[in-house]
Amino acid sequence: MLDQYGRNITYLRISITDRCNLRCKYCMPDEVTDVGMKNILTFEEIWEIVKAGVSLGITHVRITGGEPLVRKGCADLIRGIRAIPGVETITMTTNGVLLRTYAASLKEAGLDGLNVSLDTLDFEEFASLAGRQNLKEVLDGIQAAKEMGLPVKINAVNRKELNPISLVLYAQQEKIPLRFIEMMPVGYGKQYVGRSNDELRACLEDEFGKSEMIMYQANQKKQVSEQISHMVQTLHTKEVPIGSGPAVYYKFSKLTIPVGFISAIHGKFCESCNRVRLTAQGYLKLCLCYDKGIDLRQILRGGEALQNEKDIQKALNEKLTTAMRDAIYKKPAAHCFEHPEEMTEINE
Ligand code: GTP
Ligand code: 5AD
Ligand code: SF4
Repeated sequence: MLDQYGRNITYLRISITDRCNLRCKYCMPDEVTDVGMKNILTFEEIWEIVKAGVSLGITHVRITGGEPLVRKGCADLIRGIRAIPGVETITMTTNGVLLRTYAASLKEAGLDGLNVSLDTLDFEEFASLAGRQNLKEVLDGIQAAKEMGLPVKINAVNRKELNPISLVLYAQQEKIPLRFIEMMPVGYGKQYVGRSNDELRACLEDEFGKSEMIMYQANQKKQVSEQISHMVQTLHTKEVPIGSGPAVYYKFSKLTIPVGFISAIHGKFCESCNRVRLTAQGYLKLCLCYDKGIDLRQILRGGEALQNEKDIQKALNEKLTTAMRDAIYKKPAAHCFEHPEEMTEINE
């Protein structure tokens, strides 16, 4: 559906847990309060919301967290989403620690691809940044996903201390697209001084030759060049687009992999935003940095909805769809990182 600014909303990001098995300094505090399972949407509730979303034009679902793989039965959840007619692609963003364990079941459940967060290849730096020594598991998880034929992309946050060269060399060797994300001043990210992606790209040009834009953000309907569509076909087992999100992809003359830049701060992309988010506790958030959003859990659990007979189910679907349609229509024009006082927390 189109929102009030004419943006086509097709992408639903679903956080399925607030928990995480890492403690990345820019994201999670050491001590986190557990909200308790009863406050988290059940799989059935998530499926209901996806069904309502699909009736409003959602075609792409991305599973996120916290760390999605720490939620028991994650593959079953994906299998259920896969069974909903109208869902075209389901992808996941993960820190990769548990990927070796779950790659086969994710593939079997119908997952189309994974974005794996990897900020450093240095074991010491990983431990200090992520609070746990799991780099080996992450690298192993990436291999496992590749072995299963699951398309993988790597996400690295553009911190000041980032060593982009080693990540690029690794990604090139593994033939995995790599994306750099500008640090956003949300949550614990506020303590970091971010660097612009343009600055980073210029520094990569010194090493890897001139760069040429090959694919723009998902909602901007620019043509994918022949070169990238060839790359995508060879890198991905089926012909899925490389991404559905805000990354702008470049080709460096000395590299064959696409390198993406997600530049939320210095290349604000809100006018092409195609997404809404569902939090683990059931709020439909319309933009990354605005408050909690619409409480869908309350609609799902309110009064008669709990008794789940057929008619009630239909009424519930209508109620959910109406609430989501109204909310999506009013999606804010843009994020407000420039006005931190207006901002609230994000979940990835
Ligand atoms: P694909 O293009 O399908 O791979 O998805 P994606 O890039 O949206 O997914 P991913 O979860 O890997 O997101 C990468 C990063 O992009 C996130 O961590 C955010 O930092 C940023 N991002 C994603 N969506 C938004 C958004 O709506 N607004 C802003 N400001 N940043 C976003
Ligand atoms: N700014 C930018 N990216 C962030 N992520 C988490 N917090 C921030 C932040 N403050 C990234 C993770 C992961 C992705 C889903 O979000 O590193 O790659
Ligand atoms: Fe966990 Fe991802 Fe946050 Fe790191 S960035 S603590 S992996 S949720």
